[in-house]
Amino acid sequence: MENDVQIDAELRDWIAKANKLVVFSGAGMSAESNVPTFRDAISGLWANFNPQELASAEGFIKDPSRSWEWYQWRRELVRKAEPNAGHLAVAQFQRENPGKLRVVTQNVDDLHERAGSSEVLHLHGELFADRWFGPCAQSELLQPRCDVSVAVAGSPPYCGECGNPLRPKVVWFGEEMPKDEWAQAQRAAKNCDLMLVVGTSGHVWPAAQLPHLAKARGARMVVLNPEESELDEMADRVVRGTAAKLLPKWLGKR
Ligand code: OAD
Repeated sequence: MENDVQIDAELRDWIAKANKLVVFSGAGMSAESNVPTFRDAISGLWANFNPQELASAEGFIKDPSRSWEWYQWRRELVRKAEPNAGHLAVAQFQRENPGKLRVVTQNVDDLHERAGSSEVLHLHGELFADRWFGPCAQSELLQPRCDVSVAVAGSPPYCGECGNPLRPKVVWFGEEMPKDEWAQAQRAAKNCDLMLVVGTSGHVWPAAQLPHLAKARGARMVVLNPEESELDEMADRVVRGTAAKLLPKWLGKR
C-alpha cells in the first residue's frame, strides 16, 4: 500500500510530464471555501423547497420572486466566501505554466476566477450573471434588445420596455448546457493527457461524460475526493483527500 508521500510524488511526476492538463471540478472544489454544495444549499430557510422548485423554469414561473431570492441568497454566500488553497494552487500553476492547464467546472461560483484562473469553462452557468427569462418583446419590434444592465429593480428585475423578467444565467433542471462551453470542454478533454477530477460525485450528465472522453483518448484520469464517486471505477488513481490540502501539494512549485 503506497503512502501519501509516494502518491503525491507520483501525481507530481504525472503533472510534470503532461503536456495538457484539465482540472474538472465540482462542488467539492468550493467546499473548503464554505460554499454549500447544490444540495446543501437547499437547507435552512430553503429546506422546505425542493431543488426543482427553485432551479427550474417551471418553479420560476410559479413564483419568480422565490426563485430569484434563493439565487440572491446564494450570491450573498459566495460573495462572503474566499477562494481556498485548492483554487489558488490551480491559478498559480496556470500562471507558471501558460497554456498547460484548462479549468472546466460544474460550479456556478466565481472562486476559480477570484483565485486568478483564466478562461474557466462553466458548464452549468455563472451565478453572478443574469439573462432575460423569455425572448425580449422589443426584438420582435425590430428594436435593439433590452439591455440586461438597464433592467428595472425588482424581485426579479424586469425590462422596463416589455416587462420581461431577469433570471440567473445558470443551467436549470431540464435545460441544456451552454453549447459553446460544452464544445470547448469536450475538445479540452479529448486533447489532454491528464485530467484531475476534483470534488464531483460524477452523478450529473452529460458533464460527467468528460472523464470518459479523456480516458477514451488515452489520457490518465485521477479522482480527488474524500468520498466514493461514480468516476472512481475508471480512474487511474483515486486519492481520498480534499482539494485545499492535495492540490497545493500536486501543483505547487518544488
Ligand atoms: P455534489 O454535491 O453532487 O458532489 C460534491 C462532491 O464533492 C462529493 O463527491 C463530495 O464527496 C466531494 N467533496 C466534498 N468536500 C470536498 C473537498 N473538500 N474536496 C474535494 N471533494 C469534496 O456536487 P457536483 O458533483 O458538483 O448542477 O454536482 C454536479 C451538479 O449537480 C451541480 O453542478 C448542479 C447539481 O445538479 C447544476 O446546477 C446544473
